[in-house]
Amino acid sequence: MYKYVVVLHILSATVWTGGHLVLALTVLPKALKRKDPQLIFEFDSGFERIGIPSLLLGVATGLWLAYQMASDVSVWFSFESYVSTLILTKITLFALTVALAVDARVRIVSKISPDNMKTLAFHVILVTIISILFVIMGVGFRGG
Ligand code: HEM
Repeated sequence: MYKYVVVLHILSATVWTGGHLVLALTVLPKALKRKDPQLIFEFDSGFERIGIPSLLLGVATGLWLAYQMASDVSVWFSFESYVSTLILTKITLFALTVALAVDARVRIVSKISPDNMKTLAFHVILVTIISILFVIMGVGFRGG
């Protein structure tokens, strides 16, 4: 069972992190060059249909995997071991991702204009870096 859950976890990671890399490295530069935030919103509205379920699957499978490694959930918040520190780091990364998504919806999208794309670009880059950190921290469970 464990390995099937790891497969689902990694599949969700490929979609979430891969999608953000495409956004940050191909769509964002084009949008900045053309001063057209709509390019980002268009990509986002297509991607979120598979991206959000993937992130949620990654979190659900991640929590399940974490539970197999440390079934006492209070340990997750204790910095007691290397594994618990990684689990807490991943939960924190998820909280940051949610906070950035809410901030983008509430603060940025309504005020965006072609001459004011820096904050939007900063958000895209930050969420992409966090998505890569998810992968690096994940590999840390095995690789140290
Ligand atoms: C709260 C959310 C998450 C938790 C608690 C969590 C937990 C875990 C755990 C316990 C493992 C170790 C599995 C093993 O090596 O047997 C792992 C591995 C991994 N995670 Fe997560 N994860 C979370 C979210 C994510 C997300 C969103 C991504 C990617 C975007 C991700 C990417 C990875 C990768 C690439 C591995 C490496 C798998 C391997 O080495 O076999 N994780 N995660």
